[in-house]
Amino acid sequence: MSILELNQPEVFLRNCWYVASLSREVGRHTKAVRLLGEAVVLYRREDGAPVALEDACPHRKLPLSMGRLKGDAIECGYHGLTFDHCGTCIEAPTQKQIPKQAKVRSYPVQDRYGLLWIWMGSPELAEHSPVMQIDHHDHPGWHMTSGDSLPCKCNYLWLVDNLLDPSHVAWVHRSTFGASGTEGTPLELQADEHGVVCSRWIVGQAPPPFYAPLVKFTGLADRLQHYEVRLPSVAINRSIFAPAGMGGPQVRDDPRVYRMVSYNFLTPVDGDNTLYFWLQHRNTDTDDDALTEKIAAGAKAAFEEDRLVLEAVHQGMKHKRSPNIGLLLDAGASRFRMALAQRISAEQTKETA
Ligand SMILES: [Fe+2]
Repeated sequence: MSILELNQPEVFLRNCWYVASLSREVGRHTKAVRLLGEAVVLYRREDGAPVALEDACPHRKLPLSMGRLKGDAIECGYHGLTFDHCGTCIEAPTQKQIPKQAKVRSYPVQDRYGLLWIWMGSPELAEHSPVMQIDHHDHPGWHMTSGDSLPCKCNYLWLVDNLLDPSHVAWVHRSTFGASGTEGTPLELQADEHGVVCSRWIVGQAPPPFYAPLVKFTGLADRLQHYEVRLPSVAINRSIFAPAGMGGPQVRDDPRVYRMVSYNFLTPVDGDNTLYFWLQHRNTDTDDDALTEKIAAGAKAAFEEDRLVLEAVHQGMKHKRSPNIGLLLDAGASRFRMALAQRISAEQTKETA
């Protein structure tokens, strides 16, 4: 598969975990979502366990999400065909026998970090593939925001590109993440089988507006911008602010050193839409709920700025009438797209073997 083919609708890596929803938004009601081009209905069993089924009755394809829950099962709102949480039809009220083909696909799902994860590939591969690990998740010295999400009318790869591009903050996020040094400080690029990291230390600059109230020192700072995206589309954005002169690759653990990790999960809806989920993890003021809310609101405002730009990029690139150019800062995104195209090719080759 070439990198260009990645932009084709319905071309996705499937044997991996994606975030389907915030866990708190799935309950004793049906929730319809579209993921990787497939219609899925989410709900919880009476014991709280999550369920994900193909959202189409095998009779006339009415979305099951338009029906109702009956205990742990779901009933179609057209003729009452009822499916258990594994997708097996257990009731066909209009006739004596349940048709043998009456079943819908069920997807492995699990709750982790306040997010509902779904496996859209071969179900038998899911149990040997753990959901990604978030370091210090249960550590009392760290605090995680409860997460949020944003639907974006653009291909998920434009969001991936953006999350491998620390320079965009100088223009897209002037009032939040942007600061002196974010325009032109050289980037370091590392790539392995898991993904790509674009990073740099910006030394001796004032912290940007979003971080200035959070850091525990005054004066200039050394700042790490670490932009990492792992396959299929998990972006880990690490920020470190240390008093000027204390930063760099050997930065020590020190009470004045501020660390924030932003986890971003990009789930393709189809070739033109993405569900963007995120969590913020920090090691300061962990009991300060007001600060947590401020960070969550600030992050959402900043990601709205990304959304506006990337939706316009999606339209611009989809309907372009003249060739576009590349910039040196695209190197990380290009490496990631190459790695992803190779993984998707390998997955498709295995499927057809
Ligand atoms: Fe951004």
